[in-house]
Amino acid sequence: MAQPLIEARNLTKTYGSTTVVHNISLTIHRGETLGLVGESGSGKSTIARMLLRLVEPTSGSVLFDGIDVLAANKRDLRALRRRMQMVFQDPFAALNPRVRIRDIVAEPFKIQGGLSHAHIRQRTAELLHEVGLDPGILPRYPHEFSGGQRQRINIARALALKPEFIALDEPVSALDVSVGATVINLLRDLQRRHDLTYLFISHSMPLVRYLCRHGARPPGRNRPGPRSLRTPPRTLHPTPHSRHTPTAKPLATRSDQAYAVPPVRR
Ligand SMILES: Nc1ncnc2c1ncn2[C@@H]1O[C@H](COP(=O)(O)OP(=O)(O)OP(=O)(O)O)[C@@H](O)[C@H]1O
Ligand SMILES: [Mg+2]
Repeated sequence: MAQPLIEARNLTKTYGSTTVVHNISLTIHRGETLGLVGESGSGKSTIARMLLRLVEPTSGSVLFDGIDVLAANKRDLRALRRRMQMVFQDPFAALNPRVRIRDIVAEPFKIQGGLSHAHIRQRTAELLHEVGLDPGILPRYPHEFSGGQRQRINIARALALKPEFIALDEPVSALDVSVGATVINLLRDLQRRHDLTYLFISHSMPLVRYLCRHGARPPGRNRPGPRSLRTPPRTLHPTPHSRHTPTAKPLATRSDQAYAVPPVRR
């Protein structure tokens, strides 16, 4: 099989004396969706952020298309940022209320530089169209939009630089079920259209299964089935009265090839 697009080995993150992610390894092949499921506080967002090096791992390694992400200098990292994007957990917090939609979606172009104003305007309108929004909303502000629409704006921004990989951090948890379903379908369509690779973080195994099965490259003869990785439950301050035994049972389902990860050691 071809080289994985993402290969993370033994990622660990420690804040002070607390280990929030312990020895997580994962691989994601091109066009595949890896589902990441786990309880609140089990380190899912931290794992995603470490893959993009938005959070510096305490130890471990991340290869993106064979490139050592943790050894990348500023320039390399800039190039990598075009290729790896993230849709953040809270669609409300992720959008600055004082910035117009136009400038939010165009932000990645401005950071990367090198495009004319006319080109940026055209690409920004195209991006809104891609996520099912009317480009007429470009002069407006985030507070005028619902959670689902905001999440579409976040997705448009993540797509701007034509990434190959997107970490989707609970993209629909804050949305009503029916609105969430339309966003999931959008993500599925975008994945097929652009051959995207996803890390999909969720609390919902059915959602993970759905997106994993209907991804850009549904499992074929030579490809693994939908996969998920479960982060172990953990409690921050266990006391003798609330003894908590971390369990990291694999989520074995019919078609999921599930991986158990070791419990966090405190
Ligand atoms: N900057 C930080 N400093 C200290 N602790 C942190 C920091 N960021 C995260 N943590 C802690 O790390 C743990 C894992 O956080 P993380 O946000 O990765 O969990 P999560 O699985 O994404 O949770 P949720 O499902 O609620 O989003 C939590 O206990 C959190 O409080
Ligand atoms: Mg999180």
